[in-house]
Amino acid sequence: MADAVHIPDEAETRARWGDFAWTPENEAKARTILARFPKGREQSASLAFLDLAQRQVGADTQTQGWLPVPVIEYVAKQIGVPYMRVYEVATFYTMFNLAPVGRYHVQVCGTTPCMLRGSDDVLAACKNKGLVKGKTTPDGLFTLTEVECLGACANAPMVQINDDNFEDLTYDSTIAILEALAEGKSPKPGPQIDRQVSAPEGGPTSLVAMVSENHDYRGEW
Ligand code: FES
Repeated sequence: MADAVHIPDEAETRARWGDFAWTPENEAKARTILARFPKGREQSASLAFLDLAQRQVGADTQTQGWLPVPVIEYVAKQIGVPYMRVYEVATFYTMFNLAPVGRYHVQVCGTTPCMLRGSDDVLAACKNKGLVKGKTTPDGLFTLTEVECLGACANAPMVQINDDNFEDLTYDSTIAILEALAEGKSPKPGPQIDRQVSAPEGGPTSLVAMVSENHDYRGEW
């Protein structure tokens, strides 16, 4: 199960984030986002605004970003709805962090398909690299969260790290990814085995002639 996060003290949070406002670049992005919705439907921009705000906090803190209360208040004001309307969105989706996280937010899927395919090995690799569920490593690099299904079950087990999915993991490939990130490298996202997205390992096993030519199978059926 996902762990409850520890939301920081509000006074401290207000002192740090009380004057949050869009950067000029994000101001322009926010205008573009709002323009997608009809007048009176500005609330529809909640998700996109929260994402933009979290990324701005992330850029400020060199982390994946999170949503302090004053930032959520700012977003609510921007779209002209009560704070609660935006807060309920922020608390519903696990893509939003309600507490500070590290530079890399390692979200390990522990739901049944991933669990059956080896998420325990993925978690063991994280543990052996010093990651603790619900906590950020002392160097501020990694935060480990166990999450529910991330919709990539065909490539189980998998983790999402910031904006990337790493799939078809083993203990060793998880260690390699964490080590590469710690060294400032950018490991290749997606399947970590010989597999194109969720196609069979080693290449297609049916309609193989379609891979290299537009083969017409109809006469053979
Ligand atoms: S169960 Fe892990 S991605 Fe769906």
